[in-house]
Amino acid sequence: MRRWLAAGWLYLAIGAQAESTILTDADFDDLVIRSERPSLLLFYNPLNASQLELQRVWEALGAQFANHTELLVGEVNVTSEGGRALCRRFRVKSPPKVRYFHPPDETVRRYKGALQPEAIGNFAKKLMRRKCSLSRLRKCTRRQQTAMREYMDLSVEELEAEAAAMEEELAASEAARLALEEEVERKFDEAARSALHLEAVEAAEGEELESVRQAHEALMAEVEKRFRSLDEAQREERSLREEYVPHLQLVKMAARHRASLKEEL
Ligand SMILES: *[C@@H]1O[C@H](CO)[C@@H](O)[C@H](O)[C@H]1NC(C)=O
Ligand SMILES: *[C@@H]1O[C@H](CO)[C@@H](O)[C@H](O)[C@H]1NC(C)=O
Ligand SMILES: *[C@@H]1O[C@H](CO)[C@@H](O)[C@H](O)[C@H]1NC(C)=O
Repeated sequence: MRRWLAAGWLYLAIGAQAESTILTDADFDDLVIRSERPSLLLFYNPLNASQLELQRVWEALGAQFANHTELLVGEVNVTSEGGRALCRRFRVKSPPKVRYFHPPDETVRRYKGALQPEAIGNFAKKLMRRKCSLSRLRKCTRRQQTAMREYMDLSVEELEAEAAAMEEELAASEAARLALEEEVERKFDEAARSALHLEAVEAAEGEELESVRQAHEALMAEVEKRFRSLDEAQREERSLREEYVPHLQLVKMAARHRASLKEEL
């Protein structure tokens, strides 16, 4: 254990490429949530010297696992915009914090161990060994096993079709939410202009005051209605994601397993 960690430090010392993947909210889902390998993630503030030191531990860890496809070592710079978004999403209020992800689990979990290199290194190894797959069902939690059995009897084609259908539904729900966002923005601009117009008419004590006021109120009601639709669309997208993403991983895992069995025959 000490040896491999020391080797990691050595890579740094001799200036070899240190590798911890920098994560932002833009690529988090692709690299972590939809990935089939576990991830070990550090949220840190680079302006704090002791946290910067911890980041170096991560770089060393990343260098150590650079060629391992079985673990993603990732870091989140909490002062960057993409990092702040991830802090909000995972409720990281005071860095440094370590989180991990063990697919096909759907949630990112809190690491509660010590922030010492040795403890973290041990945890990283444990996380790798716990990798759950169809050929290593023993490594999966009971819930994962039950979910995976559902897919055991399907053919590669059926599994792929199922994955494609889920992905399509996810994409459609995201597109609907984006369209609503744009619409809310447009209506909002319109309402802002109408508010200015109303103010001007009020100041001039114009005759058309009542009709302008009514038009403005109608517009505000529309803005509110669209905000509610957007809220609903966001909730729907979130729940779809929560339901589908872990299934997608299982389906893909099962498809790969079936494909490899076919090759062996
Ligand atoms: C820097 O981070 C450490 C935790 O690693 C914390 O205890 C300390 O208060 C922080 N320092 C400042 C100046 O915020
Ligand atoms: C990773 O693989 C590359 C190319 O095969 C090699 O040059 C490099 O030294 C390896 N790094 C580690 C940390 O094993
Ligand atoms: C962290 O993010 C800030 C803001 O984008 C950037 O200026 C800084 O260089 C980053 N630090 C590291 C160590 O990546």
